Amino acid sequence: VCGIVGYVGHRQALDVVLDGLRRLEYRGYDSAGVAVNAGDALAVERKAGRLANLEARLDEVGREGFAGTTGMGHTRWATHGPPVDRNSHPHSDMTGRVAVVHNGIIENFVALRGELEAVGVEFASDTDTETAAHLVSRAYSGLDDSGTKGDLPASVRAVCRRLEGAFTLVVTHADEPDQVVAARRSSPLVVGLGEGETFVASDVAAFIEHTRDAVELGQDQVVVITRDGYDVTDFHGEPAPVKPFQVTWDLSAAEKGGHEYFMLKEIEEQPEALANTLRGHFTEGRIVLDEQRMSDQDLRDVDKVFVVACGSAYHSGLVAKYAIEHWTRLPVEVELASEFRYRDPVLDRDTLVVAVSQSGETADTLEAVRHAREQKARVLAVCNTNGAQIPRESDAVLYTHAGPEIGVASTKAFLAQIAANYLVGLALAQARGTKYPDEVAREFHELEAMPQAVQQVLGTIDQVRDLGRRLSDSRAVLFLGRHVGFPVALEGALKLKELAYMHAEGFAAGELKHGPIALIEEGLPVVVIMPSPKGRAVLHSKLVSNISEIQARGARTIVIAEEGDETVRPFADELIEVPAVPTLLQPLVSTVPLQVLAAEIARSRGYDVDKPRNLAKSVTVE
Ligand code: F6R
Repeated sequence: VCGIVGYVGHRQALDVVLDGLRRLEYRGYDSAGVAVNAGDALAVERKAGRLANLEARLDEVGREGFAGTTGMGHTRWATHGPPVDRNSHPHSDMTGRVAVVHNGIIENFVALRGELEAVGVEFASDTDTETAAHLVSRAYSGLDDSGTKGDLPASVRAVCRRLEGAFTLVVTHADEPDQVVAARRSSPLVVGLGEGETFVASDVAAFIEHTRDAVELGQDQVVVITRDGYDVTDFHGEPAPVKPFQVTWDLSAAEKGGHEYFMLKEIEEQPEALANTLRGHFTEGRIVLDEQRMSDQDLRDVDKVFVVACGSAYHSGLVAKYAIEHWTRLPVEVELASEFRYRDPVLDRDTLVVAVSQSGETADTLEAVRHAREQKARVLAVCNTNGAQIPRESDAVLYTHAGPEIGVASTKAFLAQIAANYLVGLALAQARGTKYPDEVAREFHELEAMPQAVQQVLGTIDQVRDLGRRLSDSRAVLFLGRHVGFPVALEGALKLKELAYMHAEGFAAGELKHGPIALIEEGLPVVVIMPSPKGRAVLHSKLVSNISEIQARGARTIVIAEEGDETVRPFADELIEVPAVPTLLQPLVSTVPLQVLAAEIARSRGYDVDKPRNLAKSVTVE
């Protein structure tokens, strides 16, 4: 969480940094701030709330004071200290000659702060970040014993060696107008290389307007950027390896493309996200992963699978369980990453832990991965972000190629996760021989037909938006499903909670009679995800009975059913039809109307669909 950007070049740094922050705002929007090296002093401004507040503040104080071609900025998701002006980044030392922005958590900041206060340092904020500003200042001024006086990169390295936790730092010093220094441990950091200008940022979105040449930094590295390029070392000053790459998606992919909000754009991009995720993963009759640092024999030896993930990614794992168990005959447990390592799960070399994460940065999932590896289990990451920490620390990787997801609520990444998890299941079935090659091929081809089916569901958007407007005054909504429809119900409820701030719950329909049915009252909207009448006839008839029970008690039934499913029609106050697809693949079509429904209810209630309150796109704290 938090977006950071740094710049040294020939343009006005303030403009470049503000543009970059605009594209990084999805990473956190509790506050925003900038620092520009303006002549012989730093011009710093920061403001709680959205970037727009900072821009208004800059207009108030006048932007003339921010003339300069070296600068940096930050958009914050609060961890330490409430989101108020004084806790907004950049943070400075007491002289105001150093400015620091930070993404992550400095875990030993209390001890460091105590040490600094003991030598007379006065703190102006509640943040962990401010300790880094004072430490760098003291190292650069020769006030500590680091021996790095007058050398900014060396000072930053010395400070990094003392910091514990996860952090990306960007540092600028009034005495060093031609460089910006950045450091990385665990949180992401990329360098952008332009003509006579260089960028650092949490994400390429911050600079793709200017360049597509990028360099990914590794763990525990410090980079110095200047107009002419960059120099990377480890925390001890030794040259360090980096990975140059070309950004393949364009700026429009990170912009709304004419839609009212990103989420709607991303919902519409789902057919493409699915197709891209499947592409290249079935060649010469075999499922192939993107990276495999474990042997085929290791894959064959797997005797148990855990899927660990959070939020929507966790729901994608719940869906996958049905397919992976069915195809591989391996036991599959799906677990919330935040719970996993605290209960001493039974893991060994033959356990495969599938870590599913759009961002690849989620702290809970990352820690679950680390725990699994300590116990010698193998880890396979399903991730949407190239080179993120979770795939880096895994034994195998399958990337979902959903593209950048800007809306905080997951949509296309979720569908891509389901598809990728299925590929993992097929890869395992293929390795273990529980499916013949032609069966694997058949399952894959069924998946390949899904972008088309999802495209068809997009045809219901107007109908669902209309329904959303009519439901926007409801106090609560329940979601019911069975089999793979159950995780879809959970996902539908999560979407509604996070976007529309409405009470919503997902239940396994069979559980209703064991308690939740007491919630049903006159007019309560209940969304029911129907299985296919042809695929699982017994499930279908059970759900029809469940719907009639709740309708008899006054519920307003909203039914998502396969087109042509006439049996359900009499029980549906509202009917949304989705195309007929194989049972295991139904979540790929039935989730889509639920995404649209939640977004439209949120919009009708006047909420910011792309940036729900209290949330951030990637959650890098436990
Ligand atoms: C919900 C949502 C979150 C994420 C969760 C995991 O719409 O987006 O629940 O799914 O925070 O994030 P990743 O997949 O980045 O690990």
